[in-house]
Amino acid sequence: MEKILIELSQEGQIGYSVPENDMGETDISKILPQKYMRATIPKLPQVSEPDLRRHFTKLSQLNYSLTTNFYPLGSCTMKYNPPVNEKIANLPGLRYLHPYQPENTVQGMLEILYELQDVFCQITGMDNMTLQPSAGAQGEFTGLLLIRAYFKSKNERRNKIIVPDSAHGTNPASAKIAGFEILPLHSEPDGHIDPAKLKEILTDDVAALMLTAPNTLGVFEKDILILTDMMHKNGSLLYYDGANLNALMGHARPGDLGFDIIHINLHKTFSTPHGGGGPGAGPVGVKKALEPFLPKPVINKNKNVYSFIYDRPKSIGKVRSFYGNIPVLIKAYCYIKALGREGLKKVSEQAVINANYLLAILKEKLPAPAGDRCMHEFILSGKPLNKCGVKTLDVAKRLLDYGYYAPTIYFPLIIEEAIMIEPTETESKSTLDEFARVLINILEEAQNTPDLLKNAPQNTPVSRLNEVEAARKPILRW
Ligand SMILES: Cc1ncc(COP(=O)(O)O)c(C=O)c1O
Repeated sequence: MEKILIELSQEGQIGYSVPENDMGETDISKILPQKYMRATIPKLPQVSEPDLRRHFTKLSQLNYSLTTNFYPLGSCTMKYNPPVNEKIANLPGLRYLHPYQPENTVQGMLEILYELQDVFCQITGMDNMTLQPSAGAQGEFTGLLLIRAYFKSKNERRNKIIVPDSAHGTNPASAKIAGFEILPLHSEPDGHIDPAKLKEILTDDVAALMLTAPNTLGVFEKDILILTDMMHKNGSLLYYDGANLNALMGHARPGDLGFDIIHINLHKTFSTPHGGGGPGAGPVGVKKALEPFLPKPVINKNKNVYSFIYDRPKSIGKVRSFYGNIPVLIKAYCYIKALGREGLKKVSEQAVINANYLLAILKEKLPAPAGDRCMHEFILSGKPLNKCGVKTLDVAKRLLDYGYYAPTIYFPLIIEEAIMIEPTETESKSTLDEFARVLINILEEAQNTPDLLKNAPQNTPVSRLNEVEAARKPILRW
């Protein structure tokens, strides 16, 4: 493994020459109060410029990324991020804006945000949007605060949120943090929700149903219109976890299906980087009735002049500093502009085709509990491997030896030994074929040489970590 910079340091090595001072000498103690002065000189690493570059290049080679290998990560999704979007977001006119600049100096930026809200509304079938939340989960939390504010304004005491067991774990967590009680809804063995089961728990204190469609099993709810109708007849709202919109974009709009609130994960649908829960962006869209509660400020357009409106007495307030994660939003804007209406529609088609292609090959080797067809991702169960003493975790670790990022495992919780695969739309047939070949090879190894899997990975810079220790007692300082 690469040493850290301070370990590479050699007395006297210089990596950067500071320009000559042509401003004259000033005694620092005359500018800075004594309490801010260091007692000792900091121990900075001393390395030459080539050594510094080599260090960072080596580190970048240890890093696994989409630019090096296939990333079949279900649910959390690593979608390819075209560098042109990065380039545009880094144009000086955008990059060097400051959130405290007067509105009349940031009209271009405001126009981008305003247009982006409008496009998201068109894609999702919603009436208005906030771009503030910094991740999908924060979008959920924002949406739930909107639901709370909505019922409060109507003087209705509704404190329960129904969350199917096929939902992402962030759904019940967000609802709980927003002060709701969670009513779990058990899905059927094929991954669908049975309206009869919803009826059993649908009481008049239910505020909303949080639904992911397609859900985390890669299944689209066939009774979705019945479900949304039942909720509205009960006076409840429908929250759409739009993290999986990549499977539907351009084909169906949650707003048209009856949903009142939606969040979208820009990293899963609009090709922006996923920063491990942030800094990302999870815009939230609402139907008209919820509009007054949106976080403030909202962007207003009046005769081609853009401004922020803060005077929003019913607003839930701010959910993030300033106006959102602007560079991420610009990248999504570029992606949408580059692809256009037809291009976005094709993205979904290709994502679904790629997932079904892989599923068709792999379901011959491992059970696919949610059926033979999927949307943009699918679940296999590694249960049959248990009889060779091998677990899904071992398969995932062995994939690392072959240079693949591991798929999501043990999620969703309702499938035993789950392996969740999402190829995304950008992978070629040959990449998918090769991945399938490697996975099938690993399944053969599980039968013939199970220790290869149990001791994997062996070709990575570090072998199997103690994941509990690493999560609970991370060593983050040198
Ligand atoms: C269905 C679903 N909901 C919510 C989330 C949470 O999103 P984020 O990771 O951006 O917080 C995810 C994760 O990508 C997800 O797959």
